[in-house]
Amino acid sequence: MRPAADGSGTVRERVLITGAASGLGLGFVEWYAAAGAQVLATDVAHVVPAGVLPVGVEYRRLDVTSDEDWTVARDWVTETWGGLDVLVNNAGVAAGGRIDRLTMAEWDWILDINLLGVVRGCRTFAPGFIAARSGRIINVASVAGLAQAPVMSSYNVTKAGVVALSETLLHELRPHGISVHVVCPYFVRTNLAQSLRGTDTDAEAAAYDRIGRSRRTPELVVRRAMAGVAAGRFVVLTEAMGRVAFWGKRLAAPLYHRVLVEAGRQTAKSRD
Ligand SMILES: NC(=O)c1ccc[n+]([C@@H]2O[C@H](COP(=O)([O-])OP(=O)(O)OC[C@H]3O[C@@H](n4cnc5c(N)ncnc54)[C@H](O)[C@@H]3O)[C@@H](O)[C@H]2O)c1
Repeated sequence: MRPAADGSGTVRERVLITGAASGLGLGFVEWYAAAGAQVLATDVAHVVPAGVLPVGVEYRRLDVTSDEDWTVARDWVTETWGGLDVLVNNAGVAAGGRIDRLTMAEWDWILDINLLGVVRGCRTFAPGFIAARSGRIINVASVAGLAQAPVMSSYNVTKAGVVALSETLLHELRPHGISVHVVCPYFVRTNLAQSLRGTDTDAEAAAYDRIGRSRRTPELVVRRAMAGVAAGRFVVLTEAMGRVAFWGKRLAAPLYHRVLVEAGRQTAKSRD
């Protein structure tokens, strides 16, 4: 709920979520719907199978790589709700790959979705938030945006980019009454591994395994993420591993680098 503009109590928050048909995105949809918000779930598919989304949640196609889709989404939100309160930039794909195996087409693909998709969302809705002098942006990055393990440079770069974008906007938009959060989960059991389609299949195998075997559910991670948002955190760490990576890199840099160089050595050993 948010305060009504005329001071007459509270009204329902209006929330747009990308990548909302699966995994964490669907978790955010369920969380906001349960909290009584008006939710526009969006994803790349034209329709979502019946029963996937909670009753009362709207669905529209929004491919985050399409400027036109973002404009259509903003127009829908303006015409239907008169504005937006919360933007959750969650849509994303995964990739692994050694630097000499990743193709430029693979870099373009993941940058366009994971990084520029978030840029497009922020560009589309920042003007309305600035005009309203309120709004919340929740960007879903990853622990990979905070600590960079070997053989996943393209994914790491997109997520570090989302962290940098979020930090920039934290400072740039706060004077306009807008809050910005960046959620950095560790491995969560979702459908993300299905987006692994790179040419360096050996390098992607480990990520495939770790996403599939994670014991953490989207529901749990979203609950932790929203607790961090409610507490006013900027970087929202949802697992202990995230805290180890975040603080280890800052407070114990030599150890951090030793651990990751060793990880690089292990992957180099298996090089064919
Ligand atoms: N699962 C993990 O281990 C993990 C860990 C850290 C961060 N994340 C991040 O969480 C976010 C959500 O991923 P998930 O794990 O729930 O995976 P998921 O595959 O279950 O959900 C991702 C959703 O994004 C959608 N999507 C993909 N390309 C899109 C596009 N061009 N436009 C709109 N939607 C698109 C997919 O259709 C899918 O519904 C991603 O940004 C991911 O990088 C996931």
